[in-house]
Amino acid sequence: MMAERTVEDAVRETLDQQGWDELRVTATEVMRRAYAPYSRYPVGAAARVDDGRVVVGCNVENAAYGVVLCAECGLVSQLYSTGGGRLTHFVCVNGEGEIIMPCGRCRQLLFEHGGRDLLVWTVSGVKPMSEVLPDAFGPDDLTHLADLADAASEGTD
Ligand code: THU
Repeated sequence: MMAERTVEDAVRETLDQQGWDELRVTATEVMRRAYAPYSRYPVGAAARVDDGRVVVGCNVENAAYGVVLCAECGLVSQLYSTGGGRLTHFVCVNGEGEIIMPCGRCRQLLFEHGGRDLLVWTVSGVKPMSEVLPDAFGPDDLTHLADLADAASEGTD
């Protein structure tokens, strides 16, 4: 049986500072492609995937304000459109290239695709998602649905 991966393991596997800086530069470049005419708050996001790929996203706003797509939405779409996988390292920046925190909804989005060990460059340093979204609701909370489906199919066999 494989031992559970600890936060210490995750931190050990982190990028060196140069790797993080490169990811931030990439996020800053993609931020310049944002479509944010309403808030005038462009955001760029970049992440590493467990196979070494880098995926990016920028925010895309809408005249119907609530239809806004955060930068993280584009990033997760690119994750899947280029082959899927798990996010391992993430950073997002504002129009000045400064590190910002992902909004609450996007923390949930990141948790789904990187889990507890995804490392996030936050305004207070690099932290695992388990600290950025503590006690998160996630895919594991829905396992009972699979159990219910199994029980139902056993009943009909
Ligand atoms: N925004 C993002 O793209 N990601 C975040 O995590 C925070 C907020 C965008 C949404 C909106 O276009 C602008 O920033 C101002 O809220």
